[in-house]
Amino acid sequence: MAQPRILSGIQTTGNMHLGNYLGAIRNWVELQESHDCFLFMADLHAITVPHDPKLLAENTLKIAATYIACGIDPDNSTIFVQSQLPEHSELAWIFNCITPLGWLERMIQFKEKAVKQGENVSMGLMDYPVLQAADILLYEPDLVPVGEDQKQHLELTRDIAARLNFQFGSEENPVLKIPEALIREAGARVMSLTDGTKKMSKSDPSDQSRIDLIDPPEVITKKIKRAKTDPERGLEFDNPQRPECNNLLGLYQLLSNQSKTAVAAECQDMGWGQFKPLLAETTVAALAPIQAKYNELMSDRTYLQQVLANGKEKAQAVATPTLQKVKAAMGFVQ
Ligand code: TRP
Repeated sequence: MAQPRILSGIQTTGNMHLGNYLGAIRNWVELQESHDCFLFMADLHAITVPHDPKLLAENTLKIAATYIACGIDPDNSTIFVQSQLPEHSELAWIFNCITPLGWLERMIQFKEKAVKQGENVSMGLMDYPVLQAADILLYEPDLVPVGEDQKQHLELTRDIAARLNFQFGSEENPVLKIPEALIREAGARVMSLTDGTKKMSKSDPSDQSRIDLIDPPEVITKKIKRAKTDPERGLEFDNPQRPECNNLLGLYQLLSNQSKTAVAAECQDMGWGQFKPLLAETTVAALAPIQAKYNELMSDRTYLQQVLANGKEKAQAVATPTLQKVKAAMGFVQ
C-alpha cells in the first residue's frame, strides 16, 4: 500500500536555527520512515518582503543542505525548490480568483508582518497564504506538519479547497483533496534565549536570541552562557513563572534524547552554573555531525544541484496532473 503523503516547507530567509531543527526538520526525519515526504524551500515566499538578490539562491541551497545534513534522505523524500515549479504560481493565481479578500484580511500573520513593513506592504505579502495553499494542494498530501503559528494558514488552505470543490466539483467527485494539519505539540516549541515567552525566530534582531545550526562551538557556548535565566536554584519544567528554565531544560531534553522525567530528575538540584556548561556541551555534540555533513554538502554544489533536479522532476510528476485537473474543472481550454 502507498504510504500516506506529507508536504511541508520552510521559507528561505535567514539562517536555520535550533527551533527549525527541533521543531520541524527533526520531525520530518522521523516521519519519512513511514510517509512519502515532499519537502521544499519556499523561495517565492521569501520575496514577499524586500530581499537581496545576491543571497536568494545561496539561502535556498543552504536550506536544502540543512535538510539533508539533519537526516532527510533525498533517495527517500522529495526535496525541491518552489520557484522551479511554475505550477505553484499558476495555481496560486487561480486560487486568487476564488478567494474572498476578507479571508486574507483576517490573517494574523499578515497583520503582524504588515505592521513591520510600514509603507512597504506588497500585494505578495497579503497573498502569501494563497500561495501556501497552492504549495500544499498541488501535492494532495494527507498531512501537513507545521508549527502552531501556521494553523490559520492551514485552515485557509482547507477553506480554499472546499470552496473550489463546491464551485467546480461535485460531492462524489471533489477536485482537490482536503489535507489535515499536523500541528506540533507545544513542548517542541523552542523559545528565544533572551525571552522564554517568545518563539526562537529568524527575524529577531538579536543574534543572541537564537542558536544557528551552523554556529561554531565557541559561539554556541557563549550564547548559552549568556542566556537569560532566573535567580532560583533547582531546575524544573512547566513552572509558568520560569519560562526560560522550561525552555532550556526542554532543549537539553531534546538534544540529549532523554525523557522529560529523566531530565527533571537529573536537573532538579542543579544551579545554572552547573547546568549551562552541560547544555552547551550537549548542544555542541548534537550539532557536530550535522555541521560536518552541512559543510561537506555546501562544498560540493554539483551533488546538491543533482538532488534538486531530481526533486523537481518527482514533484512535477505530482503537481502537473493536479493543476491540469483544476484547470479542466474550471473550464479552461484543453
Ligand atoms: N509559511 C511557512 C512558514 O513560514 C512556510 C511554507 C510555505 C509552508 N508554504 C508552505 C509550510 C506549505 C507548509 C506547507 O513556516
